[in-house]
Amino acid sequence: MGVLSGPQTGDLRTPDGRMMSMGIHQELTARTRAVLPSWLALYYDEPIAIDRGEGRTVWDLEGNEYLDFFGGILTTMTAYSLPEVTAAIAEQAAKVLHTSTLYLNQPMIELAEMVAEMSGIPDAKVFFTTSGSEANDAAMLLATSYRKSNQVLALRNSYHGRSFTAIALTSHRSWSPTGYSGLSVHYVQGPYKVRSPYKDLSDDAFVDAAVADLQQVIDMMTSGDVACMITEPIQGVGGFATPPDGFFKAFKDVLDQYGILFVSDEVQTGWGRTGEHLWGYQAHGITPDIMTFAKGIGNGLSIGGVIARAEIMDCIGANSISTFGGNPLVTAGALANLKYLVEHDLQGNAFKQGSRLYEGLLPIAEETPWILELRGRGLMLAIETVEPGTTQPDSRRAGRLMEETRKRGLLLGKGGLYGNVLRISPPMTVTEEEIDTATAIIAASVSVID
Ligand SMILES: Cc1ncc(COP(=O)(O)O)c(C=O)c1O
Repeated sequence: MGVLSGPQTGDLRTPDGRMMSMGIHQELTARTRAVLPSWLALYYDEPIAIDRGEGRTVWDLEGNEYLDFFGGILTTMTAYSLPEVTAAIAEQAAKVLHTSTLYLNQPMIELAEMVAEMSGIPDAKVFFTTSGSEANDAAMLLATSYRKSNQVLALRNSYHGRSFTAIALTSHRSWSPTGYSGLSVHYVQGPYKVRSPYKDLSDDAFVDAAVADLQQVIDMMTSGDVACMITEPIQGVGGFATPPDGFFKAFKDVLDQYGILFVSDEVQTGWGRTGEHLWGYQAHGITPDIMTFAKGIGNGLSIGGVIARAEIMDCIGANSISTFGGNPLVTAGALANLKYLVEHDLQGNAFKQGSRLYEGLLPIAEETPWILELRGRGLMLAIETVEPGTTQPDSRRAGRLMEETRKRGLLLGKGGLYGNVLRISPPMTVTEEEIDTATAIIAASVSVID
């Protein structure tokens, strides 16, 4: 079937050969189930296919319009069909798509310079990959080679990707299909306090308890010469679990005693989405040794990367390439996207609109007995649903909220270990009017759920 547009229906045969008429979404759902893996989860009881987008609005193949407050998992960072990005891609595509890393690559060099400068890491060098998983793989290659150790610390409730290495760093049952790994990974207490032994502690006491846990893990489970700790400043897939400011400074003080490198996975938190800071790590008064990024920088183009101090980046003793990593097409598009973000102060907009969204949602969260908490930073907010009066996760109500908001024209994301967290993270050009529309839709949807 070719490229389709506008409201459509399709025809399919029943097992006994009769033709049945169905909507295009129903037809594509059946074909997806037949030919794509069962573990590729789809949103919604009746899945949708997004046909096109403009700004923060998308249209599905059956002609329905939605305000998109998930941006393809925080990946459409600036806007859909942003003319500056579209033009840069078209211009580069008309010249050359790919040359390989064997030749000098002007847009890649320019993007690396910009990213290194923005990173806050001194004497920074950048290596581009095609995804966040591959960026984290590269970070582990650097850290384990530099430290000559395969021991790694990660946080409980983390997600770092789907490659073999990234799965090993992930501490989240729903996203951990295998326990095999060449790394020796130990997971320490992360920022997610709910249902942990520390759930009733104040922020300060929680930080102290988490540091004590970290110390004990290093002392009891490692030989001390750990390569690195990898963290998400706000845990994305884990349901936007947000630590108190300074949490990672307290961790880093311990890590520094052993020379353990600090890796900040900024795949979701990067580029100003948290509003107050360009990078999630900056809420903690630290500078990481290594940082990874992906998703938003390409606005949908397949690009990720790792940034590290030159002495760490250059410690690799053999050649290493990524055939497609940072090719001219993706770096030209990412460069235009990043320039737009900086020139239009989208970090400032994330702060302003994120605050407005938080203030709009707070009374709804406070009045609703099955909403445990509203949390997050900037344009990275989450609602956790529970059985009223308990901390028992309630994925049924989270699912209903997804369906009800969608019915009213708003797309949100889901997350959390139990699928009971709604994630709200629109493109960073979102307007005040769109924030108010989304808030009203969430309020109306919450009000019909018992
Ligand atoms: C924090 C974090 N790191 C890494 C990844 C993996 O990125 P990718 O899916 O591009 O491999 C993700 C993806 O959701 C992520 O959220």
